Amino acid sequence: MTRTVSITPFKDQKPGTSGLRKKVPVFQAPGYTEAFIQSIFDSLEGFQGKTLVIGGDGRFYNREVIQTALRMAAANGFGRVLVGRGGILSTPAASHMIRKYEAFGGLILSASHNPGGPTEDFGIKYNISNGGPAPETITDAIYARTQVIDRYRIADFDDVDLDELGTFEGGGMTIEVVDPVADYAELMETLFDFGAIRALVSGGFRVAFDAMHAVTGPYASEILVRRLGVDPASVLNATPLEDFGGHHPDPNLVHARKLYDLMMSPEAPDFGAASDGDGDRNLIIGRGVFVTPSDSLAMLAANAHLAPGYKNGLKGIARSMPTSGAADRVAAKLGVEMHETPTGWKFFGNLLDAGRCTICGEESAGTGSDHVREKDGLWAVLLWLNILAVRKQSVMEIVRDHWAEYGRTYYSRHDYEAIDTGQANQLFSALEGKLDSLAGHQAGSLTIAKADSFTYHDPVDGSVSRNQGIRIFFEGGSRLVFRLSGTGTSGATLRVYMERHEPDPAHHDEETQEALAPVIEAAEALAEIRKWTGRDSPTVIT
Ligand code: G1P
Ligand code: ZN
Repeated sequence: MTRTVSITPFKDQKPGTSGLRKKVPVFQAPGYTEAFIQSIFDSLEGFQGKTLVIGGDGRFYNREVIQTALRMAAANGFGRVLVGRGGILSTPAASHMIRKYEAFGGLILSASHNPGGPTEDFGIKYNISNGGPAPETITDAIYARTQVIDRYRIADFDDVDLDELGTFEGGGMTIEVVDPVADYAELMETLFDFGAIRALVSGGFRVAFDAMHAVTGPYASEILVRRLGVDPASVLNATPLEDFGGHHPDPNLVHARKLYDLMMSPEAPDFGAASDGDGDRNLIIGRGVFVTPSDSLAMLAANAHLAPGYKNGLKGIARSMPTSGAADRVAAKLGVEMHETPTGWKFFGNLLDAGRCTICGEESAGTGSDHVREKDGLWAVLLWLNILAVRKQSVMEIVRDHWAEYGRTYYSRHDYEAIDTGQANQLFSALEGKLDSLAGHQAGSLTIAKADSFTYHDPVDGSVSRNQGIRIFFEGGSRLVFRLSGTGTSGATLRVYMERHEPDPAHHDEETQEALAPVIEAAEALAEIRKWTGRDSPTVIT
């Protein structure tokens, strides 16, 4: 039986950088989750009888929302739902599943690297038939719909047993509970030389992978351990937990500190990596060397042709605007297109679909390629392993060679989390107000060459996205970017991104924060962060 339930709109259902993210109790308010899912369905056309993919990162409330989403998909007329066993699908695996089974779209339930648990974060994101996050035209339509929605549709049937593989019927719709790992693992085998990586591992090369009690545990166990021969003890925190063991499943130097310390110790294995809550981010650390995500993008792009899936070279490279210019130098050398997009993976979709780029990346630990339409943590790990297996050099040697050839781009991001929204807006208004008059002026010891607010013109569909962050370019090539996070769930988060390119190998051994000191000083001089936020220092430095 299908019911129509009357509701009044929730005014705060505006999708951010990556879907709708709120605290669990917000999603638990009666009708809240239903209102958002119905607004998604109401913004789509032509899905009657078609397939929808549903899965999540296994965080608290995942299973409940999946049961609701199944009942609503049936009531709204989907013909079939593919759902990962245990309600699990990593974000890249969901993207692949949508593409492989030519689904109409997918619902990905995740708040990525944000903490999980009864009072922590939850999220719902809609992906389109190319497997990628819905573009702004659709997320804007969803938001508009949330503002006026007055009813949702739901079918009545018992909870589906998500732990049993098999095909079920519910509300006239077919529900297939599928293996969340198999298709994804098979895709990875087509891209990488598993034989070469297995030989590397059996030759004594040691790997440590931290799954952070999040979704990549089962994927790493299948791919790294079972298919590539990595010691099971080297996959850390492999069991997904609803609260990620109380940690932030965020693979950065703060939350993956133990892995970092291990990689800097005398007992360090050869290669260390971690992924986040939903498996789309990656952290790469060699013995004694942290590879910044911006550098990792550049190095993967420069070496991708060593892996079978990329042996014909790259069509182009894309990076989000705050990501460092390291990849631009690789694109220039390869003679391929370089694209600079706003923050958020959804902006890469058109470029990938149009064959304008093969590899994409963000400074926030996201890298991926045209194999899916999401960033992909394990993909980055496997591409690194493939490159290491072919080059037979250490991570440190590959990094040093790269810097010697292209120069080193010192890079850091300073986050001021959970600051007052009003003060954050004032800081931005003050900065925006003076943008036009900054050129030629000093900020600390640096001279400003140009300042603007980033506007993106999508070269594929012509759409324009404004206010995507403030950019300050300095004479000599350093750059500073200010943005407000679009994924935070409490107050505002100010992100300050700093970079400086250093061509001379004699200066490639500086400590990053020291190397960036003039840019950090300029950030304070320009934005008066201390005054507006009341904070003496960032909450997170990556
Ligand atoms: C953050 C990252 C961004 C990434 C997004 C989703 O968004 O900065 O690169 O695409 O998470 O993982 P933000 O909070 O900065 O809007
Ligand atoms: Zn993520």
